[in-house]
Amino acid sequence: MSSNAPFDAIVIGAGGAGLMCAGVAGQRGRRVLIIDHNDAPGRKILISGGGRCNFTNLEVRPERFISANPHFAKSALRRFDAAQFLALVERHHIAWHEKTLGQLFCDGSARQIVRMLLDECPADRVTLAMGASIDELEHGGDGFRIRVGDTWHRAPALVVASGGLSIPKIGASSLAYRLAERFGIAVVTPRPGLVPLVLPESDADFRGLTGLSLEVIARSGDVRFREAALFTHRGLSGPAILQISSYWREGESLSLDLLPGCAEGRDEFLLSGKQIAPRRTLINLLGESVPSRLATVLLERAGVGGALGDIRDRDLRRLAQNLRDWRFEPVGSAGFDKAEVTIGGVDTAALSSKTMASTALPGLYFIGEAVDVTGWLGGYNFQWAWSSGWAAGQAL
Ligand code: FDA
Repeated sequence: MSSNAPFDAIVIGAGGAGLMCAGVAGQRGRRVLIIDHNDAPGRKILISGGGRCNFTNLEVRPERFISANPHFAKSALRRFDAAQFLALVERHHIAWHEKTLGQLFCDGSARQIVRMLLDECPADRVTLAMGASIDELEHGGDGFRIRVGDTWHRAPALVVASGGLSIPKIGASSLAYRLAERFGIAVVTPRPGLVPLVLPESDADFRGLTGLSLEVIARSGDVRFREAALFTHRGLSGPAILQISSYWREGESLSLDLLPGCAEGRDEFLLSGKQIAPRRTLINLLGESVPSRLATVLLERAGVGGALGDIRDRDLRRLAQNLRDWRFEPVGSAGFDKAEVTIGGVDTAALSSKTMASTALPGLYFIGEAVDVTGWLGGYNFQWAWSSGWAAGQAL
């Protein structure tokens, strides 16, 4: 059994948050050890954004993050914002582009972001221990001690950057929650976010639409997202559904406006169509606004069809209203295996919003997705990883 010279900090997790934190602390002269059980750093970064990493968003605002305390993320997001991360990207000559809705991607590959984060870690200050499983973790008067195999590592500070539960097959674990609980910090019950939703058997007629995508407005209470929805063999996916899934709770229903291009209050559009061309078929008219395969299923369900002139006005009005407010109750989500993020996590009430340190045990930090802060789809979650990692790195 050997014991290494002490580090100033041990970071658990070589994802976006951990690497950012270690780089910042290393540049401030701190000796940092990063421990990760994966063989390579930044695996989630590598698979993100279809391999091009949607690394931030020009529209980052605190209200686009979900947390039991909606104010918690403000300080970190302000102190290290999207512009500062973009400046870093440009300093490393990584070409980027805006795709849509403020989402910034690499022109080349997500590998460039991982390379950049590693290059930001001064080699004489930051040590990376990959493929390293934590066998024991102790805390005492001299700080934290972690045993990896035969070696004990020591440091007065421990940064937990081990992420949430999403995508266990690339290294996700519940370590952050177990450590929080061990040190008396509450955990907001984790649940899958940015995740496809599963429809009940009674909606099996939609399965024939697998692969069909259309623009919708997905709604849950006051929250709404106007983006694409995609029918899948189990239910619904696509950006609008992933976004709204983060606001959905089991047992609740969601609403889709299937006619987002129609101005509000245009529930009369089928009636006008009837007046203009009574011999035209309903399916033909509806096919102008929604894909005809979907129109067919919707009309079968509504039990209406044929020539517009033969359909009662109130049936046309009710159909239009249903299309504007199509309600469905998912039976579940595709779970952590498919969720892009984990909602919930280490309770922010126990952490300093400036440093991410535990207020009760100042040497203990939690950053990134492990914390109960979850962003929208579109680069928000990486920005939280960078901002919270930077905040802790400044404090070490
Ligand atoms: P992250 O999960 O990245 O890192 C945690 C690290 O801790 C991992 O390396 C893991 O191996 C290690 N670890 C875990 N348990 C451990 C243990 N017990 N012992 C040792 N090490 C342990 N976001 C975004 O903003 N833009 C995007 O384009 C995408 N795209 C995207 C695609 C897909 C498929 C997914 C799954 C997710 C995204 N995201 C995203 C979300 C984003 O990837 C995520 O929020 C951040 O990577 C979180 O960074 P962290 O560093 O907090 O955790």
